Amino acid sequence: MEVVAMKKKDKESQPERETTEALLAEGRVFRPLPELVVDANLNPNDYEEAVQKARHDLEGFWEEAAEDLHWFKRWDKVLDRSEAPFFKWFVGGKTNIAYNALDRHITTHRKNKVAIIHEREDGSRERLTYYDLYREANRFANVLKSLGIQKGDRVAIYLPNIPEIAIVMLGCAKVGAIHSVVYAGFSAAALRERINHAEARLVVTVDGFQRNGKTIRLKEVVDEAMTACPSVETVIVIQRMGVEVDMSDGRYLWFHDLMKGEPASFETMAMDATDPLYILYTSGTTGKPKGVVHCHGGYGVGITRTLKWVFDIKETDIFWCAADPGWVTGHSYIVYGPLCAGTTTVMYEGHPLFPGPDRMWQIIEKYGINILYTAPTTIRMLMRFGSQHPKKYDLSTLRILGTVGEPINPEAWVWYYENIGNHNCPIMDTWWQTETGMFMVTPTPCNVLKPGSAFKPFPGVHVDVVDAHGEPVQAGKGGYVVVKEPWPAMLQGLYKDPEKYKEVYWSKIPGMYLAGDIATKDEDGYFRFQGRSDDVLNTAGHRIGTAEVESALVSHKYVAEAACIGVPDKVKGEVAKLFVTLKEGVEEDEATLVNELKAHVRKELGPIVVIREISFESKLPKTRSGKIMRRVLKARELGLSEGDLSTLDD
Ligand code: PRX
Repeated sequence: MEVVAMKKKDKESQPERETTEALLAEGRVFRPLPELVVDANLNPNDYEEAVQKARHDLEGFWEEAAEDLHWFKRWDKVLDRSEAPFFKWFVGGKTNIAYNALDRHITTHRKNKVAIIHEREDGSRERLTYYDLYREANRFANVLKSLGIQKGDRVAIYLPNIPEIAIVMLGCAKVGAIHSVVYAGFSAAALRERINHAEARLVVTVDGFQRNGKTIRLKEVVDEAMTACPSVETVIVIQRMGVEVDMSDGRYLWFHDLMKGEPASFETMAMDATDPLYILYTSGTTGKPKGVVHCHGGYGVGITRTLKWVFDIKETDIFWCAADPGWVTGHSYIVYGPLCAGTTTVMYEGHPLFPGPDRMWQIIEKYGINILYTAPTTIRMLMRFGSQHPKKYDLSTLRILGTVGEPINPEAWVWYYENIGNHNCPIMDTWWQTETGMFMVTPTPCNVLKPGSAFKPFPGVHVDVVDAHGEPVQAGKGGYVVVKEPWPAMLQGLYKDPEKYKEVYWSKIPGMYLAGDIATKDEDGYFRFQGRSDDVLNTAGHRIGTAEVESALVSHKYVAEAACIGVPDKVKGEVAKLFVTLKEGVEEDEATLVNELKAHVRKELGPIVVIREISFESKLPKTRSGKIMRRVLKARELGLSEGDLSTLDD
């Protein structure tokens, strides 16, 4: 294995193309800059020690990580396996993630440190110190109390990337309510489904927000959802854009009116480590989203330790996770992780291309950001606009880069490394999931990197690649991604569906957590993730179940049957291609139908579904028992072998 040191290159003498080719050459790997290693929270020796310690004493390793947090009462048992696969961490321990994110910093030098930098699309900004955020979260906790919201009640949060989302999430955590954030790009139907499944008593939303030069009137989506949400007693509306909203429904209340009357102090509730903190719905292989549950204790330990080690968080750092709080990346690494680690977290409300493709680089320069964590789709999209945009800005404050959500192709990795990191910043390709809560397979800045590989499992995490019987596969061979031992930020189950939790994750390869991904490991043990093994699309790092798209389609009056497959896309990774059979007597022309069906899917599921093409068929390939064989459609589409067709009917 040939090792090259990352070092500052003289761009004049080293043309971009030449370096890119050299870096992509087989066997090339990247060793971190010595100055970065010297100051790292974890040097290569520490890393090795951590790996060894975790291998011999998994519980001791995570127990040590838990010491970083505040506990009202220490745990009696680190890991309880007695009800596997419902593993419980830090049993008997009392804590609260909001106390760790806010309250404990208030008595330290962090009291007046900036907790959140918020950038609006129009360039205006807002900064909240830890003390400001603490007081606001306390006020909101008091609002919740005065509305009668209690421990265990569900609160749906339908908000974009604005500071209030953190205030509301933390306020919920403080009173022990369980929040369910619904991404602000989801439709009224998707929001309603999630509110009803969680039986939320309260919904928090906003009048509108800025996105891509437009004002998105989010409250109107809530109005539409609210027509059939019987559990909701109150809807709190944040006034942000000042657009006119209809508040005539007796359930609607203004956030500012409620907050005004509340004191800024609140005694944060001591929660059991295993008490639920939130539900986050994610797509699976059925038409219904799954409610992944995370808790206060183990989740807090897992995200804090991974963030500190992987992004090497320093007291003076400004950390920008350019995701949305509506996804798990935002929960773990915009809100809870950075605040528990006491760092400054950046929230950007707008679109990365607004008003131009240099927007992200401008934000980095404006705040002197040290760590940037984003998705491969964003990198590929910005790469298409060329390196002249980042070159206009001073990006020299950057120390570490990261990616998440989908496989990163080596070309994008190298572009990111050269043009954004200026050959100085290691790239942390972090593989994880809504269910895992925290990074699982990831390097740290002291590891040797290979472009396109997420390195190896984090210390104390036992991810492997196995065949259908659970046997490890040989180097270079593809297999299923599994986790063989519990980890602290693991999901606590699926909300209201313990059987499904067992069936989806723990039954196919007994004794192991099945992630639903395919990967290879090379001879050095480096992972390369290839994508999903199940019927889940990954568009721009977002999961969409093909079954969800199909059930949205068949709810249209003209559609008889539908099949959805993922097809490769240069920027978004994967997008949807749909095959549709129509009911008899439909007379619209094809172009009208395509537009109508696209609009229908958008209305049912929201703009996250990107449809490349809709193909109208006279019939779809099916098994004799009537199941549509998406595999056959996909093979045909990609020009691959159709495989075993023995079950194909006709
Ligand atoms: O397929 C994997 C992909 O994203 C899936 C998890 O999606 P979600 O629960 O929405 O969470 C996304 C953010 C954590 C995984 O099953 N994925 C995530 N990170 C990577 C990845 N694929 C390849 N490389 C990654 N670094």
